Amino acid sequence: MKISDIKTIVVIGAGVMGRGIALVSARAGFRTILFDINAEMLKVSESHAQKFFSKSVERGKMTEEEKNQALGNLIYTDKAEDRRGEFVIEAILERLDLKQQVFKEVAALNGPGCILASNTSTIPITQIANGIENPGRVVGMHFFNPAPIMKLVEVISGEMTDPAISDLTFQLAEFMGKKAVHAKDEPGFIVNRVARHFYVESLKVLEEQVASHEVIDALVRNYGFRMGPFELMDLIGIDTNLAVTKSMHASFFYDEKFRPSRIQQKKVDAGHIGRKSGRGFYTYDPK
Ligand SMILES: NC(=O)c1ccc[n+]([C@@H]2O[C@H](COP(=O)([O-])OP(=O)(O)OC[C@H]3O[C@@H](n4cnc5c(N)ncnc54)[C@H](O)[C@@H]3O)[C@@H](O)[C@H]2O)c1
Repeated sequence: MKISDIKTIVVIGAGVMGRGIALVSARAGFRTILFDINAEMLKVSESHAQKFFSKSVERGKMTEEEKNQALGNLIYTDKAEDRRGEFVIEAILERLDLKQQVFKEVAALNGPGCILASNTSTIPITQIANGIENPGRVVGMHFFNPAPIMKLVEVISGEMTDPAISDLTFQLAEFMGKKAVHAKDEPGFIVNRVARHFYVESLKVLEEQVASHEVIDALVRNYGFRMGPFELMDLIGIDTNLAVTKSMHASFFYDEKFRPSRIQQKKVDAGHIGRKSGRGFYTYDPK
């Protein structure tokens, strides 16, 4: 398959990442189907797309005509049978069983030629591909948050991934205006493996009451980072961040250096999962 053979990209999951990936795909000219089982998330995504592209026009990053074209490329649906296209990007919860289930369903709908890319942060692509018909077409395509702005995309090849599929995914990311890098299928790939300590160590500092989360964030920002670790966890979603840490902790045979924090677990238990819930380490205006 070539880039020009891809007419429709199906993005599955309209959460923090899926709705951003859908914008990237629509902006690059692909008919883009954004699917979620939760209709509310689709409504939020639609108004997010309107706001994002309108701001892009205001900032001179796109013309009014390009905005209308991009918006016209987007289709929002909660009907499972609409998930038809040449290239699927899955961005649902960070759980192996759910990701495999979704790939089995879309594989049955689209046949053996459809490429199945996962935006997983850390789950091995080899595990996701296991049990999927034609596992050579399963690949990692890991965008960063916020997807329409962050340039990097990791392209992850599992043990069974066909090199031609990895290359096509790499080219697709670059065609979408991103900077793609190839990564091996090791826990956390490149960025999450390095960045995990940013979160885990900051949470340990908080657990030991060395400083408050506000002070740690301010200090890290003063040091030159764009955001502190607690602000970033709120942006990512504390639930997602915790799921990623748990997955990496298990993948590294429970190495203490990846130990998740009770502080995060309590926030998740309380539903205080960051910006998307209006409250995490900080509170947010729901608008
Ligand atoms: N949040 C980040 O900063 C970030 C960055 C890179 C990668 N990721 C990865 O992206 C994926 C999604 O993370 P997120 O933060 O967008 O999660 P999220 O919780 O914001 O959104 C997940 C969405 O998936 C939907 N969903 C659940 N099951 C579904 C199904 N079977 N079919 C369709 N939709 C379904 C939910 O309704 C929800 O809208 C995860 O694998 C995560 O590790 C997240």
